[in-house]
Amino acid sequence: MKTILDEQQVRDGVQKMARQIHETYGDDPLTIIGVMTGSLVLLADLIRLLTMPLRVGVVQARSYRGATTTAGQLTLNTDLLPDVAGRHVLLVDDIFDTGQTLLSLVKHFDTLGSTSVRSAVLLRKHGRQAVRLQPDFVAFEIPDEFVVGYGLDYQDEYRNLPYIGALEPADLVAESRS
Ligand code: IMP
Ligand code: MG
Repeated sequence: MKTILDEQQVRDGVQKMARQIHETYGDDPLTIIGVMTGSLVLLADLIRLLTMPLRVGVVQARSYRGATTTAGQLTLNTDLLPDVAGRHVLLVDDIFDTGQTLLSLVKHFDTLGSTSVRSAVLLRKHGRQAVRLQPDFVAFEIPDEFVVGYGLDYQDEYRNLPYIGALEPADLVAESRS
């Protein structure tokens, strides 16, 4: 595994993103919605850097992907969502790859009567975007490699790594056979 961003880099990037979020919202009350499960670690770190009145909810977005890069049909589980009508909503996800996940989520939240809907991601993968939507806050741009750690998984593992690493193609093949 090759380290793409070490712990200190990730921390600095999340702090910078928190400052940008403050510049946008000031002291306005905010509802942060973490997209499970990949945003779990970012969500926990980010909310502790924010000082405005804050509510936190989660939504589960699951795409049925055969391989690591092919987008599939997206299903949303909104059972754990707080009421977001009349609130500023900030969707938080681990990575913006094709953008399909965030686009579907933004469309869904646009129907819920929120005052505003924006999005923040830790990573944006270069050259993969397939939608017009741009995330409003991005901590890091990364090359088109399959990355894990700090919430991101490969077959539900590696989320607990405190840094971002890229799996070598050999790891991907070897793991899918095991
Ligand atoms: P999108 O809908 O194509 O933007 O994909 C977003 C979702 O795909 C993310 O929330 C991740 O769950 C997953 N994903 C995309 N690229 C990677 C990666 O490099 N590592 C781990 N998960 C990824
Ligand atoms: Mg995800």
